[in-house]
This record gives sequence, structure tokens and C-alpha cells, in this order.
Amino acid sequence: MKPFPPYRIQVVKEIPITTRQQREEALARASYNAFDLPSNMVTIDLLTDSGTGAVSAAQEAAAAQADRSYAGSDSYYRFRQALDDITSYPHIFPVHQGRAAERVLFSSVLKPGQISLSNTHFDTTRANVELVGAEARDLPCAEFGDLDSQAPFKGNIDLEALEATLKGPEGGRVGQVLITITNNGGGGQPVSMANLRAVRSLCDRYGVPFFLDAARFAENSWLVIQREQGYGHLTPREVARQTFALADGCVASLKKDAIAPMGAVIGVRDSELAKQCEANIIATEGFRTYGGLAAHDLERVAQGLDEVLDPNYLRSREADAAHFAELVTNAGVDIVQPAGIHALYLNAGRLLPHIPPHGFPGHALACEMYLAGGVRCVELGSLYLGTFDENHNLVEPAPFELVRMAIPRRTYTQAHLEYVADVLADIVKNPTRVASYRVVDAPELLRHFNLKLERIPAGS
Ligand code: F0G
Repeated sequence: MKPFPPYRIQVVKEIPITTRQQREEALARASYNAFDLPSNMVTIDLLTDSGTGAVSAAQEAAAAQADRSYAGSDSYYRFRQALDDITSYPHIFPVHQGRAAERVLFSSVLKPGQISLSNTHFDTTRANVELVGAEARDLPCAEFGDLDSQAPFKGNIDLEALEATLKGPEGGRVGQVLITITNNGGGGQPVSMANLRAVRSLCDRYGVPFFLDAARFAENSWLVIQREQGYGHLTPREVARQTFALADGCVASLKKDAIAPMGAVIGVRDSELAKQCEANIIATEGFRTYGGLAAHDLERVAQGLDEVLDPNYLRSREADAAHFAELVTNAGVDIVQPAGIHALYLNAGRLLPHIPPHGFPGHALACEMYLAGGVRCVELGSLYLGTFDENHNLVEPAPFELVRMAIPRRTYTQAHLEYVADVLADIVKNPTRVASYRVVDAPELLRHFNLKLERIPAGS
């Protein structure tokens, strides 16, 4: 039997239906930057799976019972218990979201001039490494370089490159190894337990701390169960426990796999490091038992962590992504293979060969999806990863021109995803009419969110 969601929908929110003309105007007003679109002009929002999942009745019931005591609230202990059960880290701190966790941990672990090595740093993760004065260096595995390959764990770090760096002349400068599960900046691909174990032993050998960026730990655990030999008989919770056990600590945005609107956690083993993090959190986020979260958020996280590890939920979520992938491929758009869970990554470079990297094919496709159907998603190509000169000209393109369609948890039905595939099928009929773009203004840090662009009409 086909997997199906282990819940029914009891509360719904209306979505805006707009005309192409209205969308043309809205996107022009937003300077062709989807982050500047008001959500009441977006029909299907695939911008992010972060904080956009539907909460459950059980989460809302727990939220209603929340204890807002400043220190030592019941809600903190429930949060703590949920995380103790999977992470086994002796020191657990709530913070308001993932990037706060990154800022607090990295400013305690890293020193200026050090290097952070990762399979791929997410953009805020990179920014927080750089804000400390350290360098964020990505070492994705070779299989990731082939977007079409069906290799099961293309989110892995390149172990040879990792070891070469650790034992090479820069080895003394490596301040941490950070593995992102699943690898959001790397096609949403999972990381194998074998890869994590190898990272653990390299970090032990070279005396470097190993942390997880565990925003999508449950989805990674599920894909390990499906794809890695020796794990098929375990539950997602058991695999998650083994995953966290391999690292010295973690940062995790809980807006993803805790299916909560807000929240994150820092977990560490080392007591000295914990003291530094705690002081930083109390000074900048909030007292150690709430860390900038309202009590109702602590409750939603605690309950969400239990729900996300339900095998029926993960099976149905994976099936949704696989079905969506099939629809999109049948519509004529290639994706990064194999499909992960939290997002599909469209190969815009291949679909729009008439647009060179400096015309931003990924951005062009994302804009066209919005104009054609009110679908919002985000470019992950030269606009995001390329190198620019001071006049905003692209100097070095990204290796791939992708568009990420994130899939919010428990939010859209198959009919919505079919609609998105129909929008793509329509674009595929005549891709050459898709216009390219030019950057007119861009900040240096976190360029992606604050860009202003201009459309270059197709054919000009
Ligand atoms: N790490 C990863 C792997 C992420 O995907 C994100 C956020 C963060 C850290 C930061 O967490 O948003 O709670 O501050 N990713 C979102 C996304 C925004 O759309 O992929 P945050």
C-alpha cells in the first residue's frame, strides 16, 4: 500500500490566488527579489521548509499549557527531556533560532584565522563563521559533482580532502569540523553513518572538535534507514541517537525537524565550552532555561521532536518528495538526483541553456515560476554562490545553476504539488521566452536576501 500522512487536516489557511498582471507588478516592486514579495502575493510558497510546517493539535495543546516562569519552567524541562532522549549531550541550551546557535557556539569555539571545514556550510552558518574572523571551507564529496548520479549519500564530506587538510600545513588552523545533516547547501542530500564515523575518527586523530548542524536530523536518519546497509531494522529515533552520539555537540534549528514555528538548540559535551556558551546566551539570548524562546515554543518543539520521529510520518514525507520529483521530471525538468526529502533542486542551467551564468538561469526560472503560477522558490546558483566585482558583475560563476523548491512539512497536499509541476510543464513548452536578469544592487554579506535586480527581456 502507498504511504499516506498519519494525520488529517483540521485547521486550514486560505492561500491567495492572483493574476499574472498582479504578479508582474508585485515582482517588479520587489526588485525581482522573491524575499521582498509580500506573502499575500504568493500562491504556493516553496521558499523554505523552515518554520513553515503545520503544527499539530498536540503541539497547540502543549503550547496552551506552557509555563512562562523566567527560570526553570516546566516547559524547559519538557524541551530538555525531548533533547536528552535523542542527543545524550550533557549540556543543552535553547536559543531562538539556528543562526543564534551558530553565533553562540562558533564565537566560543573558533578564533580569528581558523578554518571551519564542512560538507557544506549553510549560508547563515558560513556568515557566522566569517563574523568570528574564521574561514568557512566546504569539502563536498566527489559524487555531488554529478547532479544526475544516483549515489545514495551525496551529502557526505570528502574524507580524503578532509584528512589532507587536517594533516597538511593548514591542519593547525582547523578549529572545527561541522557536518550539515541533511546537506541543505548540497542538494538536500543525506550523509551516511559511515561518513560520520570516519569524520569522528579523523577528528579524534587530529584533535579537532566535531559538531553537527542537525537541522534535518530526522530526515537524515530516515534516509540512512532506507539507503545504508545495516540500518534497515532500526527506528528513526535509534539512528538519530547514534548520529548525535558520534559528535562533540550540535547546533540545530528546530524550525525544520521539530516542526515548530521557532526554536533551536545548542548541545555540547565539554563543560568549559558549555560555560562559555551559557554566558553568551544569558547575555544575548535569554536565561539558560528559555534562551530567547517563549514557553509555548519550547513546548511545540518538545512535542514536535516526538512527532517527527514517527516512521509513518517520515515514510509519508519521503513518499511526497519522491512523488513530487516524479511529477517534475515528467514535466521535463531535471532535478538533483536522487530526490532527498526537504526540497527538490531543479537543474535550471540545463533547462535554460540560452541564459548564460551572468544572466542567472536559476533566478530566471524561479522568477518565471512566480510569474506563471505564483510559486515562490529560491535560486541556488551564481547569484547565491558566484563571485562578483564591485560593480555587481559576475566574475566567477557557481558550479551549478539550481533552484530550490523547499517542501514545508504537513502543509501542502499532492494537488498543490501537481499544480507546481503543471506550472513547470508550461514553462518547459517554451523555455526560450524566459528572461535573464542583471544585478543592480547587492550587499557584501548575505547577498542573496537583499539583492535588487533588473529583468533583461528575452531575445534582447
Ligand atoms: N543550518 C541549516 C542547515 C539550515 O538549513 C538553516 C536554515 C540554518 C542552519 C539556520 O537556521 O533559520 O533557524 O536560523 N535554513 C532555512 C532554509 C532558512 O530555508 O533552508 P535558522
